[in-house]
Amino acid sequence: MVIVSNRVADLRASSQSGGLAVGLADALKERGGIWFGWNGEREGVTGGDLNIESIGSVERIEAQISPQDFSDYYLGYSNSVLWPLFHYRLDLVDFRPAYFEGYQRVNEMFARQLATFLREDDVIWVHDYHLIPLASFLRKLGCKQRIGFFLHIPFPPPDLLAASPNHAELVDGLLEYDVVGFQTKTDVVNLKSYLREHASAVQVAEDRFSIGERSVVVDRFPIGIDAAGFTALAKQADEDVQVDLMRRRVLGRRQIIGVDRLDYSKGLPERLKAFGKLLSTHPEMEKAVTFLQIAPPTREEVDAYSDIRMELEGLAGSINGQFADFNWTPIRYIHRPVARDKLAPLFRGSQVGFITPLRDGMNLVAKEYVAAQNPEDPGVLVLSQFAGAAEEMHDALIVNPYDIDHMAEQLHRALTMPLDERRRRHETLMHHVTTQDAQAWLQSYLKTLTQDEPEYGAVG
Ligand code: G6P
Repeated sequence: MVIVSNRVADLRASSQSGGLAVGLADALKERGGIWFGWNGEREGVTGGDLNIESIGSVERIEAQISPQDFSDYYLGYSNSVLWPLFHYRLDLVDFRPAYFEGYQRVNEMFARQLATFLREDDVIWVHDYHLIPLASFLRKLGCKQRIGFFLHIPFPPPDLLAASPNHAELVDGLLEYDVVGFQTKTDVVNLKSYLREHASAVQVAEDRFSIGERSVVVDRFPIGIDAAGFTALAKQADEDVQVDLMRRRVLGRRQIIGVDRLDYSKGLPERLKAFGKLLSTHPEMEKAVTFLQIAPPTREEVDAYSDIRMELEGLAGSINGQFADFNWTPIRYIHRPVARDKLAPLFRGSQVGFITPLRDGMNLVAKEYVAAQNPEDPGVLVLSQFAGAAEEMHDALIVNPYDIDHMAEQLHRALTMPLDERRRRHETLMHHVTTQDAQAWLQSYLKTLTQDEPEYGAVG
């Protein structure tokens, strides 16, 4: 098995890594194979030496990219074009020919470097938007192996995609895979509608399109978490988390929690405004609830990210200035990463999980919040209708992240929800999180990828 992703997971997995990376790493260790990707450094040399590390039956291979590639491929096409475009933010897209050239250049280089390691019976699994054209470059080098792609972020509707000058090349690139996997039905429908309107692919079955001699499966594989692992992590609170919990208990103070990279797709300003609205419309909530928002930095060289940071910090300051007292700060905002073994018990000790992205592929934090709860006295998940997770997690309080007043009311509802309703909702959510977990996702994707291609007599 060969996994390719922009960043390579730490294969000596610890509790600090996400459940998804751990799940993939385990699958790789079981089968033996390669994990290939960028080394995360910006000062490399294009085509420079690969860093190869053997861990049991797995080779972890990291490639270098030059400062120019970092700017064109990573900051440019991946994060200033595809990321905003795929999150429906055409207003933030910065199309530049050099970005697309850099994107192609790095993908071609990765393909050439990876090809030398491939064996005939390998199964290759490529992850996320940084690497859409990888299969087409591998095919040009003669690779006949099964190659699958999984998009971790949303896929936009055809009209939005068509705004990108390179939309046809992107979709042609996707069609070089044997399986194209998405998080949600909406994403699947979006690609299928594009294919029906624009491309030369012919639909031959519900989830299959043919292109010349080949065919490609387009389907939904919603990602899950290692639920049991996260629940276990949530039960082991360090002393500082325990003390914080006790302090809040003594003061009768509840906590709303949000955890997201500081990204404009996460709806953070809207979330703070909704919390501010809750305090102004329900004054009894003053000193009775605190909002802890953890938002570690990400992609700070891209302007849109520094803008959202300024906006968020301005808002947090003004809401705190308006409502805080000498012994209570309504919003606690942390702009640093927090380790997972601390996050899990913090989720368990928070009465509301407030996860309201404007658009999100899946959002695993929503699933982690549920897995971390004490089933006897669970907290309530308030979830955006635009997170992929909302397609399945109907027992959350589903909100429109653009509707601040409604979000404030749903926060109030969550904070005052009777225990039996909380338990009932949590039980259903937990059932979903534990059954549709990372293992189920992996197995269903790999089953599809390793299946033989059926013969099609008639083209429908
Ligand atoms: C999202 C993407 C991942 C990416 C991660 C962190 O979750 O789907 O592919 O690795 O963000 O972003 P970064 O730019 O730091 O890799």
